[in-house]
Amino acid sequence: PASATLAPGGDVTVGGVPLLELAERYGTPVYVLDEDEVRARARAWRRALPDADVVYAAKAFLCRAVVDWMEQEGLGLDVCSAGELELAATRGFPAERIVLHGNAKSPADLRTALRLGVGRIVIDSAGEIASLAARVPGPGPQQVMVRVLPGIEAGGHRKIRTGGEGQKFGLSLANGDAEDAIARVVGQPCLELVGLHCHLGSQISSPEPYARAVRRLVPLLARIRDRHGITLPELDLGGGFAVAHRPGDPAPAPAAYGRRIHDELIRSCAAADFPVPRLTVEPGRSIMAPAGVALYRVLAVKRTGGRVFAAVDGGMSDNPRPALYGARYTVRRVGRSTAAPMRATTVVGRHCEAGDVLAESVELPDDLRPGDVLAVPASGAYHVSMASGYNLTGRPPVVAVRAGRSRPLMRRETFEDHRSRDIGL
Ligand code: LLP
Repeated sequence: PASATLAPGGDVTVGGVPLLELAERYGTPVYVLDEDEVRARARAWRRALPDADVVYAAKAFLCRAVVDWMEQEGLGLDVCSAGELELAATRGFPAERIVLHGNAKSPADLRTALRLGVGRIVIDSAGEIASLAARVPGPGPQQVMVRVLPGIEAGGHRKIRTGGEGQKFGLSLANGDAEDAIARVVGQPCLELVGLHCHLGSQISSPEPYARAVRRLVPLLARIRDRHGITLPELDLGGGFAVAHRPGDPAPAPAAYGRRIHDELIRSCAAADFPVPRLTVEPGRSIMAPAGVALYRVLAVKRTGGRVFAAVDGGMSDNPRPALYGARYTVRRVGRSTAAPMRATTVVGRHCEAGDVLAESVELPDDLRPGDVLAVPASGAYHVSMASGYNLTGRPPVVAVRAGRSRPLMRRETFEDHRSRDIGL
């Protein structure tokens, strides 16, 4: 992974390009994506579950180049808005490989999905069934899945757990909402129910919750067969596979998740006497996070109250994850190695909030000074895609590296971009 090349000492390179050179060429903050690493991780998922569809969760990070990479590696795309759909369409991504999600799909989301002919629309609420059916052009049928809320608590932080009872996603298995919705979908001739979906949460660092989901959903597939006489051919277990942000963080390889899921599927289907459905998984973070590195420049160093603060030229506007989820990262200085001892340093951003902390108490050289470049590994997912325009600092550019060369994928947001939206009076 891009993070593994950040070994202590010497010149740090990603994709064969020194990070310092990238900071100088593109300015900071900048996000660097290792193209080979993204592709290798996409392939690792395909190898982990050779009979499954692997659908990349676009929300982790999407731009036109990434759409192309996923297309070329044979993955599908999980999208949740007309915007993500339009972006995929600009590259002619095969619509039949797109899955549309969302607990509140707007008319524009549905219109765009139906116009482009997406492969699957995942129904998340009972009310959505009739409104989707009313929009399907001609006799259809539009292929759909029903998102089941399996009542399984899993995930790295309360805010990214989506499988337990009592939150906004899916239709509850426990209270019968899922089976009611399934009956209504089956009653709509223009909708074709092809399978069940669930998504448990994110940063799930063990395969066991997925095995549990299989043990709950396969019996539901068997009940649907008994009640409606239809044998659903697909089961989508969503994404949520953990990555390591710091050495030692638990992060099973795709193969480990794949093996456990596959074994449990075979076992549960045998127990329910149900034919093994085609699996889908929707990894986002696990493909993109380890392939990305964020680079910042130190603007100020402050020693106060027994602490050392290194303030950098980005912050919560390009990485809101520490503030939102208490996410922890490692930080490395690149391009300048000295004999200075290491010292616990808190890396903070430039935004006007005390909570704008990128990394609390990380080990950095004691002679840190303005102008030094800091690298934050495992930054490829849910940073740029969640970046905001806070304080008008401008969203950072994204650069791809491969075989010793770099190319810009997205340019830095400028004041002119902002001004052009602010139409005044
Ligand atoms: N499928 C569905 C239906 C999802 O909602 C998500 C993520 C995924 C797949 C992909 O999950 P992944 O493999 O990337 O964990 N902003 C948060 C993460 C939110 C995830 C939302 N849904 C964060 O930065 O931790």
